[in-house]
Amino acid sequence: MLKLNNSHIVKDTDPRLRNKSESVRLPLSKDDREILQAMLTYVRNSTDPELAEKENLSPAVGLAAPQVGIFKRMLVAVVDEEVSEDRYVTREFALVNPKIISHSEQRCMLSNGEACLSVDDRHEGYVPRFARLKIRAYDLLADKEVEFRVSGYTGIVLQHEIDHLNGVLYYDHIHPTDPWTKNEKDIVIE
Ligand code: NI
Repeated sequence: MLKLNNSHIVKDTDPRLRNKSESVRLPLSKDDREILQAMLTYVRNSTDPELAEKENLSPAVGLAAPQVGIFKRMLVAVVDEEVSEDRYVTREFALVNPKIISHSEQRCMLSNGEACLSVDDRHEGYVPRFARLKIRAYDLLADKEVEFRVSGYTGIVLQHEIDHLNGVLYYDHIHPTDPWTKNEKDIVIE
């Protein structure tokens, strides 16, 4: 079975990370299914300190196929989503051909900016994202085409991963001369 670790991660020094990835043919082939499952295992295990150490993983909430050298439109995310004050549920995504079908005008951003497994240098600044969006994709975990809404942190994670499928990196969105600038209506997430 395919197993992924940090030796598979393509860094932003590799120009291939700027490629636009190809759509995936459905139903999923056995190979594509195995890659997506291995990506999900990487992310799930990466936040367990012992497993991360043992298997050479870096803590991650999401991973896109181009980051492991597979230029296909597939991504995974494992996000602890706050459903009410101090109550979290873990939402897992294993998406194929994800598409943003609608989004808010309002933007949101993380107060400390973003980071990425493929980016070793620190790039400081706000990364504005849609505050709310609707995504359509084939979801391996549901084993069907799904449409769902996300907002806030979960939405940020999925937009970051969808960007990878288009060869876009988080720091492309940072204002070049005034990195911590924002619009009045933007929501800053702690
Ligand atoms: Ni990334």
